[in-house]
Amino acid sequence: MNETLDITITQADQSRLTGTDFSQLPFGKVFSDHMFIAEYKDGEWSNLQVLPYGPIPMSPAISALHYGQAIFEGLKAYRQANGKINVFRADKNHERFNKSAHRMAMPAIPREIFMQGIAALLDIDEKWIPSQDGYSLYIRPVMYATDPYLGVRASETYTFALLTTPTGPYYSQPLKVKIETEYTRADDGGVGFAKTAGNYARSLYPFAEAQKEGYDQLIWTDAATHEYIEEAGTANLIFVINGKLVTPSVRSTVLDGVTRDTILTLAKKAGIEVEERRVSVKEIIEGINDGSVTDAFAAGTAATVTPIGEIGYQGSLYKLSDPASRTISSGIAKTLNDIRYGLSEDELGWNWTI
Ligand code: COI
Repeated sequence: MNETLDITITQADQSRLTGTDFSQLPFGKVFSDHMFIAEYKDGEWSNLQVLPYGPIPMSPAISALHYGQAIFEGLKAYRQANGKINVFRADKNHERFNKSAHRMAMPAIPREIFMQGIAALLDIDEKWIPSQDGYSLYIRPVMYATDPYLGVRASETYTFALLTTPTGPYYSQPLKVKIETEYTRADDGGVGFAKTAGNYARSLYPFAEAQKEGYDQLIWTDAATHEYIEEAGTANLIFVINGKLVTPSVRSTVLDGVTRDTILTLAKKAGIEVEERRVSVKEIIEGINDGSVTDAFAAGTAATVTPIGEIGYQGSLYKLSDPASRTISSGIAKTLNDIRYGLSEDELGWNWTI
């Protein structure tokens, strides 16, 4: 890391740590004592601070609220077996954050601010990193437009914040997912590849409808034909077909997932054949029926590796193999966890040990 930035630290009067039940950590509900913020105006980032977690004052006219100029990321800090703290693939999240920023006409966040902000926050809130197996401190970088102006144009001021929340996996059981063929998450030329608030906003109504039918999540399909599988919104999707790992290729409508990339890299290293390509709904449904699709899972920072148990499509339910019998995805998930938790060699230099 280059120069050391000037970050003002204001410590919380009282920690909430002792009142927090670490055996009950639903995703994204419990926040650590502090947060990091930086402000952008006149073309530069300034006012870097670690301060007690809490409300940030804002005008009700800020453009993020009206026009959705807001982006975010998700990465995790792990407490390793030797007690050291590891942030996994932070560079990749920083890179993607700036890709999202570019598409949303927002300023880039310099690497130093992203990294040193995380380091400063983890330094003060280190005790919030859980030590239970499968748990971690989820780090949520977010940037939003703060011009108090109702004209439609890119804002000239922004706030960047880092929040942290101790958590286990986002999903606690195999998923029952519905292939969505009416609504669309993302369109060619749109913002589907960016981690921007609006992509999630537009998914909420179809998701709520699917929940009423008993589903845990949606599988989004392409806007033009609804014949090709894209992603799950909260995670990418990976299938095992005839022993190969097959996943929809990254395109303008599909998020370039860090966990997806990590899994594909580990699979190739383990000698498993990987195919990134268009994946049709027909191929998956026929494959479940004829036994060639032996595994399907969601892959994401929050989701980690979550098995898909059942897939609903056009009113029928297709059951996949028993997740306990899936050696490929469980093997890769173990390899990945061993690297994150420092139980095996980090040969690819993914761990940032703080
Ligand atoms: C993540 O995996 O970090 C995500 O951002 C997914 C989230 C929307 C639950």
